[in-house]
Amino acid sequence: MQEEIESVMDAVRKHHELYENALPLIASENITSNTVRVLLASDLSHRYAEGDVGNRFYQGCEYIDEIEKRAISYAKKLFEAEHVNVKPTSGVNANIAALFALTSPGDKIMALSVPDGGHISHSRYSVPAIRDLKLKNLPFDPYEMNIDVAKMVKEIKEKRPKLILLGGSLFLFPHPVLEAREVADEVGAKIVYDASHVLGLIAGKKFQDPLREEADVVTSSTHKTFPGPQGAIILCGNGLSDRIDKAVFPGTVSNHHLHHVAGLAVTLVEMKHFGAEYASQILSNAKALAQSLYEQGFDVLCEHKGFTESHQIAVDVRGYGGGDAVAKKLEKTNIITNKNMLPSDEAPDNPSGIRFGVQELSRIGMKESEMREIASFLRRVVIEKEDENRVKEEVIELRRGFQHVQYCFDGKDAYKFPEALYF
Ligand SMILES: Cc1ncc(COP(=O)(O)O)c(C=O)c1O
Repeated sequence: MQEEIESVMDAVRKHHELYENALPLIASENITSNTVRVLLASDLSHRYAEGDVGNRFYQGCEYIDEIEKRAISYAKKLFEAEHVNVKPTSGVNANIAALFALTSPGDKIMALSVPDGGHISHSRYSVPAIRDLKLKNLPFDPYEMNIDVAKMVKEIKEKRPKLILLGGSLFLFPHPVLEAREVADEVGAKIVYDASHVLGLIAGKKFQDPLREEADVVTSSTHKTFPGPQGAIILCGNGLSDRIDKAVFPGTVSNHHLHHVAGLAVTLVEMKHFGAEYASQILSNAKALAQSLYEQGFDVLCEHKGFTESHQIAVDVRGYGGGDAVAKKLEKTNIITNKNMLPSDEAPDNPSGIRFGVQELSRIGMKESEMREIASFLRRVVIEKEDENRVKEEVIELRRGFQHVQYCFDGKDAYKFPEALYF
């Protein structure tokens, strides 16, 4: 094979090997079942199907229509949504479409700042800027790690935004959707709930249900706690379906990613069967890891609230050199995490925090006892400054027993490079 190609293949094989032997704790990632991996490598990845089911701009879409129709219908049932759009190619794309559908240039919107947990696509550097919106940050209570409801109500009444964007990237506790709904109605604002991080928990009915709490639109990535292929979904009521669909196609997507739609359809079925059990285990694992980290001496946020009600845990590591230094140190032991801004932070380079997410470790079958073992690895590396190579050997040993994806119908050898499985 061409040397250049072999170099790429080699890097991919090494990436697989790293992840077979690592503890992936990044809160925005997950692993799909093998069925989904096969679909991602299918011919669908080469095709175009602009337009809607039954009304395409291209021929050859008979089976693509069947796939997309099924994805939409499975999602409608799982999330009890009147209308579903499966075309956005990423969470940011879904947010762009929702904000373009529901606002006009010059409108006021409210969203969380990035240090308080908002995603960059909610910030003044991203979607609000390209839509020329006036952004006002939602008031946040750092002790509660949640939106300050009383201040939010007051500010919505005063500022009278057109849209309130809830949900976020550092997302420990359910957001006050019902409380926002009441006052949003008073001022005529729409509520968009970005469920990117918590969609898998919502699918398993173990987190707030934003549609039942009367958010107007739910946007979401499909690859964080929801363990599908990279991509996104938008859920809404029939009243907004037209505006949302047009803002997606032709507004912000021409050809959607058909192999991802097929993978999404399969993951929706997996979540229908296994979602409740999977989401329950995530919540138990997150609490177990948080409690153990706290007992081992870490400054885990929100002890007074049981640390977390999602897949995430936030730890203040300023005492150990900050989030950047700690994340890099952990990487040497094959523990993969990310630095994270906390509410007091101003600059993103070396923020105070580390964010852990337990969804991928839960998906490969880890339970509370493994969480306690991982907390002890973290203490040994970060607090006791033990030799990283020694801990790495134990990380690899622990991972050896967890190579299959659970909560699906076919998860063996999940981290193997596909050539070994299918060629
Ligand atoms: C709350 C939230 N919204 C949107 C996104 C963006 O999703 P994507 O990476 O699929 O564009 C993220 C990514 O982490 C996120 O945390």
